[in-house]
Amino acid sequence: KKAVVTIPVVVHVLYKTAQQNISDAQILSQITALNEDFRKQNADFSTVVPAAFQPNAADLELAFCMATKDPNGNPTTGIERKSVPQNFVLGNSYYTSSGFAAWDPTKYLNIWVGYFDGVDSNGDPWDGTLGFAYLPNAAGLSFDGLVIGCFNMGTVGSLWVGYDKGRTATHEIGHYFGLNHIWGNTGVCGTTGGSDGCADTPATNGPYYEQDNPVFPDNQYTCTTTANGAMFMNYMDYVADYQMAMFTNDQKTITSNTMIGPRASLLN
Ligand code: ARG
Ligand code: ZN
Ligand code: CA
Repeated sequence: KKAVVTIPVVVHVLYKTAQQNISDAQILSQITALNEDFRKQNADFSTVVPAAFQPNAADLELAFCMATKDPNGNPTTGIERKSVPQNFVLGNSYYTSSGFAAWDPTKYLNIWVGYFDGVDSNGDPWDGTLGFAYLPNAAGLSFDGLVIGCFNMGTVGSLWVGYDKGRTATHEIGHYFGLNHIWGNTGVCGTTGGSDGCADTPATNGPYYEQDNPVFPDNQYTCTTTANGAMFMNYMDYVADYQMAMFTNDQKTITSNTMIGPRASLLN
């Protein structure tokens, strides 16, 4: 049994302006960043993760490569590009023929790259949205995969300050493999809330954002005050790219179960 599994990736670039048509080099820099983050080989690990949390950090044993064969078995770079008349808007069918259809999501990790704008169904602006992903229960559906903004994809090219280390994709792929946000999304603590199903990520009642500028140990949003405080430097929190640098052993249990469960077809 090989411990490390390699996931073939297809990147669908949908651009309205030339600047949104990100380079191959920018896309490949994202793959490099993923291979560091998911293997615990990221250079900033020992400076961003405090010593007290380092024993909780895991090598997720997941690796990524650009697809080398397309769904018809023909050679490919794993990158396809299309000029589109509209930026991404919620409800804009990026995964239909107006954008790019997914490559068989049971065989490939699909990543759509574009620029967000417009408003969603709640009237909230989508400008500045970093990305979103589907959990493993979407496995096989036509939109399964992730959507990422072109200015926070990869580590080279034109990138937003603070979102230039490829961690949006790291975070989104965490969701893709079944991980929840550290705070469990409920915004409350107690037995029914604050939980991401991981005992080794201290429970919090909400996200840490970049502007919170947390410094270890921080108990601002913890459910229980402890010596180590919150694990705000986890990839599944909401801090900026330079402030996050780890997954945990309990998160690895979830991602490994996803790989032998709902996403097992990626291994074939
Ligand atoms: N808001 C997005 C989500 O919940 C992405 C957050 C990514 N954070 C980052 N530092 N790149 O899926
Ligand atoms: Zn998220
Ligand atoms: Ca937890």
